[in-house]
Amino acid sequence: DASDIEKGTYPHYMLKEIDEQPFVIRNIIKQYQDANGQLKLDQNIRSAVKEADRIYIVACGTSYHAGLVGKQFLEGIASVPVEVHIASEFVYNMPLLSQKPLFVFISQSGETADSRAVLVEVKRLGHKALTITNVPGSTLSREADHTLNLYAGPEIAVASTKAYTAQIAVLAILAVDTARAKGITLDFDPLQELAIVANAMEALTDQKENIERIAREYLSVTRNCFFIGRAVDFYVGMEGALKLKEISYIQAEGFAGGELKHGTIALIEDGTPVIALATQSHVNLSIRGNVKEVAARGADVCVISTEVTKEEGDRIVLPEVHEYLTPLVSVVPLQLLAYYAALHRDCDVDKPRNLAKSVTVE
Ligand code: G6P
Repeated sequence: DASDIEKGTYPHYMLKEIDEQPFVIRNIIKQYQDANGQLKLDQNIRSAVKEADRIYIVACGTSYHAGLVGKQFLEGIASVPVEVHIASEFVYNMPLLSQKPLFVFISQSGETADSRAVLVEVKRLGHKALTITNVPGSTLSREADHTLNLYAGPEIAVASTKAYTAQIAVLAILAVDTARAKGITLDFDPLQELAIVANAMEALTDQKENIERIAREYLSVTRNCFFIGRAVDFYVGMEGALKLKEISYIQAEGFAGGELKHGTIALIEDGTPVIALATQSHVNLSIRGNVKEVAARGADVCVISTEVTKEEGDRIVLPEVHEYLTPLVSVVPLQLLAYYAALHRDCDVDKPRNLAKSVTVE
């Protein structure tokens, strides 16, 4: 219950929860390692994932966005085919299933009715399910065959922050464990890489002043804002847009850089804010091309990147982390941009209008 958890010196739960992220990542490392510092996962979960010929991730909202990043991990690291579905769509519009599907429900609260409706249906069909949740003992956890816990601590602000990064960290752990179970050799230690991520998240909080200034200049009065990215940066952009919509009521859209020319670029005017993510070496050149295109049409562009280059506009530079794990750090400035935008627009950060923390009706 919110009243039991102190905000301490923080003006809002959301800012507190953003700042807690490095500690959450360190806690996840602790929870998922054995006495020798090696990655440890429930044997039954390992077998369930290893035996599946395809994983169906089902979730809503921010958890759905974490699922998109999880697909990248499970396919890229563990070579398991993955589909990611919005729960409320899946329930009425079920795709053809593979021979041995495994369902993975991602839910901070473990109580979301849309996700539960899918769980009930796939259990009725006799399939296996794993729930990834922040609330042990929640409905989705009790009704699934297996549970992975997020260990993020209670999340009070309606806009989800630390649960998203916890979900991504746990999905990375699941992907690496699956790869190992399948005999795939990896050239990195996931727990060490997550420790580097925790430090990187901390370093980003030193950039709060810069991020607040960017929020003030770009987002105090605008009606809209676009987030562009390619590959996994596209997925993180969708989450950045959702954060901004939820708490600042700015109409925001995250989309794939390459799609700009197929429609959205028509919306770019003088002063339209565009936040561009560039953390993936194989697509960075192309996204920089998109930055030039929107800047030429008058957009105010802020680039969030791992490398410093010298195109125009503002820049938020991310500390270096393993390329798979960049969503864990690139989302932090997006969370902060949404937070400061909401403050500058006098919005109720922790309790945005029309939204509930946990939606228990379909
Ligand atoms: C609500 C919340 C969102 C959340 C979504 C899914 O709409 O406002 O922040 O992402 O539900 O919640 P879950 O608890 O299933 O992750």
